[in-house]
Amino acid sequence: MNGISWARKLVLVFFPVVAGASMAWAQMPSHVPIPKDNPQTPAKIELGKQLYFDPWASSTGTVSCNSCHNIMANGTDNRPVSMGVHGDLGDRNAPTVFNAAFRSVQFWDGRARSLEEQAKGPLMNPVEMGMPSEVVITARIKSIPGYRKEFDEVFGGPDPITFDHIAQAIASFERTLITSPSPYDRYRRGDKSALTSAAQRGLKLAQSAGCTTCHSGPMFNGPAEPMGTGFYMQFPLNSDNEYVKKYNLTADLGRFEVTHQDADKHMFVVQSWRNVEITAPYFHNGSVKSLDEAVRVMAKTQLNQTLTGAQVQDLVAFLDSLTGGFPHITMPRLPETPNTTPLGQ
Ligand code: HEC
Ligand code: HEC
Repeated sequence: MNGISWARKLVLVFFPVVAGASMAWAQMPSHVPIPKDNPQTPAKIELGKQLYFDPWASSTGTVSCNSCHNIMANGTDNRPVSMGVHGDLGDRNAPTVFNAAFRSVQFWDGRARSLEEQAKGPLMNPVEMGMPSEVVITARIKSIPGYRKEFDEVFGGPDPITFDHIAQAIASFERTLITSPSPYDRYRRGDKSALTSAAQRGLKLAQSAGCTTCHSGPMFNGPAEPMGTGFYMQFPLNSDNEYVKKYNLTADLGRFEVTHQDADKHMFVVQSWRNVEITAPYFHNGSVKSLDEAVRVMAKTQLNQTLTGAQVQDLVAFLDSLTGGFPHITMPRLPETPNTTPLGQ
């Protein structure tokens, strides 16, 4: 047990008292944060959408962002771990891209501080889109006349097609992937009939059991932190239970992989509860198939509590009430690529 874990545990012991009194049950934010150096424009969003859907952005021409984050559905692939180029498997579960724009950091270990920084990761990840270098990525995009024209219109300047600009366009599109208010939000606005009585019991229990010490704020992933900050907690916090071995919960060292600081071992970004009803399987390794079981695991590993069946049902009813409406998205038309193949023949 290292020092920071003890400190965190102490915080958890005392924090609920404060949090219980003052925790505002926040609603879905009405505005997406937009970085000053990447303003949204309709043309940039449209370009980002094309890049998001374009399998030519992968080495084999088979994998796009949408392969693993399907926005015609829930923004994920519902697989334990994702499958990239050559059928290779990664070692983490793909979170949904819906509402990722509200996260203060991206990835389970928070290693990207913005959507722009995040978007560069999968393109060059050998088991995701497998592009060998920035030069190869930009050359691929430059080889397509339609993209040359669009980047010129959107970014201008002597060299419009850069890795940064590709990431900026994709991030701009992702900032439009927002779900509309859920039954829970309508309940908060005063429509008491928006939640079933089970969901209302679950809402109270989420607070009294201590879940909201970590899952607080408008996205239920911690306080609304400034962009780039991240809200991390140790998972599992208590390892002395059957779930840890069963679901292999200690293999991944979490944020330690990024910082190599002992204090960051098993620290993960607190996940959002929004739309969690439909983003199974759960946890960073996608090891838990159902939301019922994910709730039991959380109660045991994070709060050292064994919930009754009825309590689990109530909490799940509450989590289900956090599913919002998904926007209708029109498929983009990708630029023409006459007489060419992504395999460079
Ligand atoms: C082969 C599957 C795969 C592809 C392709 C892929 N992703 Fe991901 N994505 C993942 C996985 C797995 C993670 C989690 C990885 C981690 O945390 O280490 C992730 C994480 C993310 C996150 C962070 C979400 C969060 O809640 O932390 C965003 C945003 C995202 N991807 C967007 C994209 C974009 C944009 C593209 C295309 C440029 C893309 N992804 C391509 C599998 C994929
Ligand atoms: C000490 C902080 C903490 C507490 C308390 C806590 N959680 Fe979590 N929760 C986390 C972290 C961190 C994760 C991400 C775990 C991972 O890396 O797989 C998470 C993940 C989850 C997930 C899975 C999300 C996904 O997309 O895979 C659910 C569901 C969840 N928590 C529900 C609950 C419930 C219900 C409670 C109360 C019984 C609770 N949590 C208490 C920190 C906490």
